[in-house]
Amino acid sequence: MNLQSQNPSPAAVSDGVFIDNEWRASASGATLDVVAPATGEVFTRIAAGNADDIAAAVAAARRAREADWGQMTATQRGRILTRAAEIVNRCHDQLAALEARDTGKPLSQAQADIAATARYLEFYGGAADKLHGDTIPFLPGHFVTTEYVPFGVTGHIIPWNYPAQMFGRTIAASLAMGNACVLKPAEDACLTPLRLCEILREAGLPAGALNCVPGRGDQAGAALAAHPGVDFLSFTGSPEIGAAVQVAAAQNHVGCTLELGGKSPQILFEDADLDRALPVVMKAITQNAGQTCSAGARLLVQESLLATVTQRLRAEFPGLTAADPESDRDLGPLINPRQLDRVRRFCAQADADGIPLIAEGRIDPGVATGGNWIAPRAYGPVPRDHPLARQEVFGPVLSVMSFADEADAIALANDTEYGLVAGVWSRDGSRAIRVARQILVGQVFVNAYGAGGGIELPFGGMKKSGHGREKGFDALYEFAATRTMVIRHD
Ligand code: NAI
Ligand code: MG
Repeated sequence: MNLQSQNPSPAAVSDGVFIDNEWRASASGATLDVVAPATGEVFTRIAAGNADDIAAAVAAARRAREADWGQMTATQRGRILTRAAEIVNRCHDQLAALEARDTGKPLSQAQADIAATARYLEFYGGAADKLHGDTIPFLPGHFVTTEYVPFGVTGHIIPWNYPAQMFGRTIAASLAMGNACVLKPAEDACLTPLRLCEILREAGLPAGALNCVPGRGDQAGAALAAHPGVDFLSFTGSPEIGAAVQVAAAQNHVGCTLELGGKSPQILFEDADLDRALPVVMKAITQNAGQTCSAGARLLVQESLLATVTQRLRAEFPGLTAADPESDRDLGPLINPRQLDRVRRFCAQADADGIPLIAEGRIDPGVATGGNWIAPRAYGPVPRDHPLARQEVFGPVLSVMSFADEADAIALANDTEYGLVAGVWSRDGSRAIRVARQILVGQVFVNAYGAGGGIELPFGGMKKSGHGREKGFDALYEFAATRTMVIRHD
């Protein structure tokens, strides 16, 4: 291991673009300031890559596919990822500190993210040589077999909410299958992905197999989505940009996976175990300050239980505290002033419309004034047609709503454009399973809720939440095409 990846200083993160295993100055030489969300201070800078950098990165990836990376066995690829997981674990503290500073999230959440990043590398490292094709009974005198082949060059556009985890989830799976990757991390938080590129190099990844061009979405991001040399795209972010990425993919006749957020429900039936459910409910809306695609944003409560739940939220929610990453409380600041404005607008509208504020958490009095601070809030009952019931806030704002019976619970859970995750809480096992299976989401929990959790668990949306799956074995199939071979031997 070289000393670079042990160095905790953010200033040691390059302000170049990572192409062919080297940092180079971006084509324009332009950079973007990196701001700490907890203080508003600029603490380092990153490259502002453009279409020329993307073109160089795609060309490097293509060369790698045609040279040593394309020649490696699946086992060799897996070993590189496994070694990278070990290096991430060795650099755990430094990476976690960097993630906390860059995103503003509490230190223990950043630590969990880095552990998850290592797990992605470990999981896909182990999985690389375990995706086997089939033989298919066919006509007499024929033998048919299938294999999974990489697309070639994959483009990855990731958001700022979980930079390290997003890197692990999308890059590890694609590399495991043998693709060469071009990554465009988010301008608002991308320091750990830049370090992770160096860690993969250190683990033995050949030049060009992974290239990274930080920069603005409308420049580097749009150029990557539209580049005709990219064979498949993976995007996580807003529905608006997701649609633009899908149009760009269509124009090049390539596929894409889109993960576009949600308005995920947690359903509390009257026989739910509230002592187990409520801490999970509160965590699922405050984790990462609610800036989580799978945040549990709608709490659907059976009418007979509504008064009790409201009372308990009134008692327990005010303890939730936003504080500096180092203080390691329930949540940190929001990512940037624009996101803060967005969340404040939702709250202002709810207040103006007379939606009752059930409870409000607090902001630690010691926080820096320049940070993007907001206290978590729970509103309810929220009418079913209110923006707070329908739109993704992407902040620590819980919408409490009520339902009459099982059929109403299912209808209400599905009464959304989104379909990412859901939680069902009931001591009646049959009911919980019956309900869970009728909710149009990609992932549903019974008597549990795992916002973002589970490397092994296929994850992705239905409806406006997007399509395609990352995580688990499913991701490997997403990053590969089935090739069927028909052999006639009569
Ligand atoms: P965004 O969708 O603009 O950003 C996500 C990624 O796309 C970033 O890397 C960005 O640079 C890139 N991008 C932006 N414009 C692009 C373009 N024209 N072509 C290609 N790539 C482009 O999300 P943003 O603006 O950061 O956040 C806005 C809202 O999106 C949030 O309030 C939230 O509701 C949602 N969001 C959802 C996420 C999720 O995990 N599903 C993550 C981040 C945001
Ligand atoms: Mg944007």
